[in-house]
Amino acid sequence: MSLRILVTGAAGFVGANFVRHVLDEHPETAVVGVDNLSTGFRHQVDERVEFHEVDLTDHVALEKIFTTGEFDAIVHMAAFAAECLSPFVRRHCYMSNVIASTNLINAAINHEVPRFVFMSSIASYGDCEPPFREDATPVHNDIYGLSKYVTEQDLKIAAAQHGLEYVVLKPFNMYGPLQALDSRYRNVAGIFMQKILTDQPLTLYGDGQQTRAFTYIEDILPPIWRAVSDKSIRNEVFNLGSSSFHTVEEVADCIMQITGRGEKRFLEARHEVKHAYCDVSKAEKLLGLVASTDLATGLGRMWEWAQKQTLKPVKFFDELEVTRGLYGFWK
Ligand SMILES: NC(=O)c1ccc[n+]([C@@H]2O[C@H](COP(=O)([O-])OP(=O)(O)OC[C@H]3O[C@@H](n4cnc5c(N)ncnc54)[C@H](O)[C@@H]3O)[C@@H](O)[C@H]2O)c1
Repeated sequence: MSLRILVTGAAGFVGANFVRHVLDEHPETAVVGVDNLSTGFRHQVDERVEFHEVDLTDHVALEKIFTTGEFDAIVHMAAFAAECLSPFVRRHCYMSNVIASTNLINAAINHEVPRFVFMSSIASYGDCEPPFREDATPVHNDIYGLSKYVTEQDLKIAAAQHGLEYVVLKPFNMYGPLQALDSRYRNVAGIFMQKILTDQPLTLYGDGQQTRAFTYIEDILPPIWRAVSDKSIRNEVFNLGSSSFHTVEEVADCIMQITGRGEKRFLEARHEVKHAYCDVSKAEKLLGLVASTDLATGLGRMWEWAQKQTLKPVKFFDELEVTRGLYGFWK
């Protein structure tokens, strides 16, 4: 099967890993990548990719990519993903996640792209009772999660009205090689490793007892491909990641043990979901998910990679739209 696919967010952590996996395991695939390089890195884009530096909020520029040829599938991974920061940058979050996705859905309908795989997030459940199941009614408490939910619902409408086939994937807290080490706001494993490499304490919010289903990136790449290529799966929603969960403090302890360095510092609590993990039986059954990499093994592999990276200065988001109620540690 030879597919031509459009991958958005191809320079980001998940996008770059996914593209490399596809081109290694399914080399007959042609990959066109799009990214505005806002949080992704050009050097992470595999050289076998036809790459376009385009912002998805620019529908005119996006349209030009669709004139380069037909696509068998869109894999939409581009997003502004920063839970907890998103209420302070609402407009940016909706532009990056809702309007950008809208432009892509419009193009998919107009160009009759048969399949739209959307990388949503566990955050779109909000503050439900864990383990979250795909049929749960969300209890939103964060703008990022809500913005992801809007696109999930838009896809359902596009499927019913225009016949656009979709697969929604809701991954959990992923970690592994290629995760940004310059982030201040998200991806706790990357932040902790960046702190270790710069001799700073590992900072935890509140009591650090928030539980998350930390998932090693390699474990979810084959199921994403299955969502792209298995025609029998259509108009479905899947939780995607590990069935086991750990506290954020356990991640800090594990990284300190692996590296033999570091100390913890507890900061003010944030407005966030305390416990977020899912039932993954549907993805195990239909997408062949086997998330078997344990935390210590996965973090060990990530640390091997992290030590070889040239650290960039930590990125600050300097265009906050709301400053009232901003946490002291982000001022
Ligand atoms: N990393 C996680 O733990 C996690 C968990 C749940 C869901 N997700 C979702 O998975 C996807 C990938 O996340 P990631 O961790 O790789 O993030 P990332 O920030 O590394 O990658 C996102 C990419 O999208 C690009 N981008 C952002 N806005 C864009 C726009 N308007 N136009 C074009 N490109 C744009 C960025 O430059 C970046 O390269 C996202 O949709 C995210 O919401 C990630």
